[in-house]
Amino acid sequence: MDKLIIRGGNRLSGTIPISGAKNSALTLLPCALLTDEPVTLRNLPRLADIDGFQHLMGQFGVAHTIQGSRPDDFGRVVTLEATRLTSTVAPYDLVRRMRASILVLGPLLARAGDATVSLPGGCAIGDRPIDLHLKALEALGARVELAQGYVRAVAPGGGLAGGDFRFPVVSVGATENAVMAAVLAKGVSRLSNAAREPEIVDLCRLLTAMGAQIEGIGSGELVITGVPRLHGATYRVMPDRIEAGSYACAAAITGGSVRLEGADADTMGATIDALRRAGVEVSHDPRGVTVAANEGLRAVDLETAPYPGLATDMQAQLMSLLTQAQGDSVLHETIFENRYMHVPELRRMGAVIETAGRTATVHGPARLVGAEVMATDLRASMSLVIAALAAEGETQVRRIYHLDRGYERLEEKLALAGADIRRENDV
Ligand code: UD1
Repeated sequence: MDKLIIRGGNRLSGTIPISGAKNSALTLLPCALLTDEPVTLRNLPRLADIDGFQHLMGQFGVAHTIQGSRPDDFGRVVTLEATRLTSTVAPYDLVRRMRASILVLGPLLARAGDATVSLPGGCAIGDRPIDLHLKALEALGARVELAQGYVRAVAPGGGLAGGDFRFPVVSVGATENAVMAAVLAKGVSRLSNAAREPEIVDLCRLLTAMGAQIEGIGSGELVITGVPRLHGATYRVMPDRIEAGSYACAAAITGGSVRLEGADADTMGATIDALRRAGVEVSHDPRGVTVAANEGLRAVDLETAPYPGLATDMQAQLMSLLTQAQGDSVLHETIFENRYMHVPELRRMGAVIETAGRTATVHGPARLVGAEVMATDLRASMSLVIAALAAEGETQVRRIYHLDRGYERLEEKLALAGADIRRENDV
């Protein structure tokens, strides 16, 4: 397994290209299951999770062709074609590492009338149930049973029917599954308290391009009128707002100034607000976002929340940044109950952070010193990279397969902006 070796202290400057959004791509890919015509996705990031998902799609008989695989290419164009589904089973071996695999459940059920999907794995960030995915599908007429680690869902009779469902908790994945199922259900579906994340807007836009009828896109009330069939489409994956936010933190912690080329400020409101309150200058135009940390950082209080609130996927990176801010910052994590696993590792680097349940208090500024660290989830791993960029001496970040799941060519991009970072084989 590889590790990253980072020597801190370089001020980042220059331009970092922002890739297509991982979390968007992971819900756009399964849309190809909904039609027998080709679906072409542009700007698909080159990530382990995306490769894994394409592999999973192959299990159902989905053919894919890839353009843009040159080593110097950022972003791929992939065409997926599910002319005929050869299987509706997602086995444990393909699903266990990637929680997003559950997103094949809705589309398989909608297209084929049945689906059997292993219960998912993924990042260890708390207890992540799928009850809402299943309840939403039941509201569309599915019969669901759990046995031997698998979910089996069947659409009795002639397929799914339109239905109403109110999510008791905002769930990104459950909303995605419900939308992908409802577009081919017979009749009208009303999804209330639906997630409003930009990735869901991206999903609805692709489905609309495929012929789906969806009203309320971008709101918490989605009204979907099922259509008998969907056709193919070509669609560009939105820029990754979490990747952009992560590099913004990386630039800011070094006191640097970086242009995030391709980032979409419209999807980054709460992150930009948090950065500005912490004293980071942020400007943007239609082609990207520029961040500059010219003055000292200030402590801020932050709370994660469903969109348009601050993304839980930005919490760890912002926490690293706030270790260098003047004063005490209080962070409150409202989405996941176990998302402070980066804290002990940051402490080993010298950060002064206390946690009590879902609240973390960061006492800054702390002197960070390089250490050997590792993390158990994707964003936590990124927070360690960010801290390492500001630490004295050398940091080794181990278990970077988490980073490879979600950051396209991380070390190349950071090196472009002047970071001293390299990848080595960890024997
Ligand atoms: C997605 C993102 C993830 C992000 C999260 C929250 C993808 C691939 N992953 O994950 O990066 O951190 O949104 O923005 O897009 N819940 C239930 N029952 C369910 C489903 C969820 O109780 O059936 C709870 C979860 O435990 C959590 C909350 O709802 O407390 C939000 O989770 P959810 O929005 O579903 O996250 P994911 O879709 O898994």
